[in-house]
Formats: sequence, structure tokens, C-alpha cells
Amino acid sequence: MSKLLEFNLINSTQSIINSDILDFEEKSKTAFNLLINKTGKGNEWLGWMDLPNHLTPDLLKHLHSSAKRFSKLDAVVIVGIGGSYLGTRAIISALQKDNTPKIFYAGYHLSEKSTKELFDHLKGKDYGVIVISKSGTTLEPAIAYRLLQSDMLTKYSNQEIIDRTIFITDPTSGALRKLAEEKAITTFDIPKSVGGRYSILTPVGLLPALIAGINIELLIDGAKEMKKSLETKQSHYNYLIKYVSLRNSLYKEGKKTEVMAGFQPHFNFLYKWWQQLFGESEGKELKGIFPVCVDYTTDLHSIGQFMQQGDMSFFETIISVKNLSNDICIPNLNTDLDRLNFLAGKSLEFVNMQAEAGTIKAHSEGNVPVMQFTLDAINEKCIGAFLYFFQTACAVSAYVLDVNPFDQPGVEDYKANMKALLVK
Ligand code: PA5
Repeated sequence: MSKLLEFNLINSTQSIINSDILDFEEKSKTAFNLLINKTGKGNEWLGWMDLPNHLTPDLLKHLHSSAKRFSKLDAVVIVGIGGSYLGTRAIISALQKDNTPKIFYAGYHLSEKSTKELFDHLKGKDYGVIVISKSGTTLEPAIAYRLLQSDMLTKYSNQEIIDRTIFITDPTSGALRKLAEEKAITTFDIPKSVGGRYSILTPVGLLPALIAGINIELLIDGAKEMKKSLETKQSHYNYLIKYVSLRNSLYKEGKKTEVMAGFQPHFNFLYKWWQQLFGESEGKELKGIFPVCVDYTTDLHSIGQFMQQGDMSFFETIISVKNLSNDICIPNLNTDLDRLNFLAGKSLEFVNMQAEAGTIKAHSEGNVPVMQFTLDAINEKCIGAFLYFFQTACAVSAYVLDVNPFDQPGVEDYKANMKALLVK
């Protein structure tokens, strides 16, 4: 198990760590116990902790049969925002297989231009829609679904629309649930005790993943192994305590921002998932570490300068991958006008790894505290383990800050204000 996800504190970072780290380790252990014993704030929202062990044969069967139906389509539009969107997109961006439907996303913005582009892409395609909303009342996905319904009415019969629509929502309440019952639309539940950003291992993430050809049993296995390693206090428990205590100790030292960075662009949504998870869970009561994610090497040519020599009020968490394919090699050219023949025969990923090692060295020597997580490979088990690890780390870290990880009063304020302005 320890290989699925490893943790490493970059050596030169040791010297930056303050002596109060031991204190934070104790606080993190206490916070972990609060979570495991289900006695912390928001403990009515802990359903996510048991999800890896509760994928019933019936649910699995329902997921597979619905995915099979949608897999025959040219395209599938996934409608959702925030926790009802980012995790799904993260898994699919990292792991989608060939010869599966083209996946589009809607309901995560209110832009006309992007919406027009979506409908342009859908022209001539046989498509289905999966609407994901726990509350069933969030405006962005609700409007997107309305627009999609209108488009579907121009090309499909009522029965064909029903066959091409799936809702993933609260088991009993909300507008989608009502509509599903009225129109006999296939529906999957998001358990009452699971909030949006903790819902990735429910049908929210699992159904779209299956349609994208991803092995969800392996994804769940990875999460299950991580759960066991954490709860039996094996290596990942130690990694978690280190990560949580380091980030909180650095925060106390004035490092108010955590930058998650990686060298694999198809992980960008995984970093964004992490950003949403930590941002919405920790950022309240005037507390919280501001989570930012960047994409290297691209961003080394923009904020890389800042990371090296700017205001040092941040620390960096690098996501690495150990076993990558090395199929693309740099060719030898007779002319060698660009003087790159010294790289001939080396794989692109080899060069990428040197960029990573060079960046870590430069940043840590430039006094940026750097932590590193290394996934064994880009596969379902490692991603499942990654998701469960960071969900747990986030809840524990929020408890160290003494905030409720599972509510989002600030987001509710924006939703209410927007609605009030619209009905004026
Ligand atoms: O993590 C959360 O709880 C939020 O980001 C929600 O997922 C987001 O606001 C969308 O809510 P809903 O699923 O109710 O449409």
C-alpha cells in the first residue's frame, strides 16, 4: 500500500520548520481522533468516510447498466458545479480511456460564449445528460439543464429524452428529485450524510467515470486501502499527521498560501478538486490556508519567478508520479540547429523529471518550504488513494483550525444574494 502514495519533506525545508511542529503533531493526532471517533464539528456529514466499504452489489449493477446505456452515445454532458463537478472532471481528465463518449461539462459557469460553444460541439451528436446537484436548486446547473432540455426537445421524442437523462441528487428532497419522480427519470442518490465536495466516491464520480471507461472497482480499492492504512495508523497516517502539522505550523509562521503544483497537465483538475476541497472546508471564521494550484512547466514561465524570489508568504506541495510511460523520445537531427542533439534518445518524461527535480531544488534552496507527494503511477488505484487521503487530511486540518470542514456558509450567502437580485 505504501507505494500508492508516498510523502516526502524536501531536506532543505527541515531547517525552515519551527520548533512548534511537535505541538502541531499532537494537535493533528487529536484532530484525527475527533474525525475517527466522529465527535468533531459537522459530524452529521461523515458519510464519505465509509463510502469505500459501502459500494453494494445492487448499486454497482445499477451503475454499470446505466453506464452501458450512455456508453453507446457519441457524447455525454455532465452538468454540475463545485463539489458536484470538480471531482468528476478530475478523475475523467486523469484517467479517461480511448473509444468512450466525448465528455462535455456544463452548469459550472454562466457564460453565453462557452454555452454557445457547447451547443456547437453537440450539433449532429447523439448525446445524453447527467445532472448532478445535491440540493437540486443551484442556479448554474439548473439553467444549463433547462437549455439542454430545450435543445433535446428539438431532436428527441419524450421517451428518447428520458432515456438520455440521469439525475444524481439528494435521496428525498430538491427539485431534481421531484422532477425525476414525475418523469420517471433514472436517478442515483447522493447520501444525506455526504456533502458536495466529499461526494466523489458516490455516483457523482463513479457513474461518469464508468462512462469514460474507468475501472471504478480499482478506484474504490485504492480508497479502501488508504482508509485502512489511515485507520490502522500505518505509513499514511504518519504522512497525514506530517502534512497536516507542517501546513498548520507554516500557516502560523505567516505562510498563508499553499501552492499545489505538478508536472502532468491532465492532473490539473485533480489540483482544482483539492483547491475546492480545502478552500471551501477551511476558509471560514477569518481562518484558513489559501489553496492555489499551478501547472508546471507552463506556470514556471509565469509565476515561477514569484515562487523563486517573490513575497515568501507561501509553501509548495508538489504532486509527482513515479512510473510514467516513456514512449516519446527526442529525435536526433543531422542539422542540430537548435543544439539539442545531446538530448537525442532521451524520453520526454525524462526531461520533465529533470525539470521537476530542478524546480524542487531551486524553490527549496530559495527558502520555499516544499513538500512532495508521489503517486506510484497514473492509474485508478493511485487516484482512489489520493482522493481519500486528501479528503481525510482536509477534515483533520480543518479540525486543527477549529472550523467545521463540512459547511459553506459563505457560498450559501452568494447563492442567496444572486437569487434575490434576479427576482427583483
Ligand atoms: O462542496 C459543496 O458542497 C459545494 O461546492 C456544492 O457542491 C456546490 O455548491 C453545488 O451544490 P449542489 O450539488 O447542491 O448543486
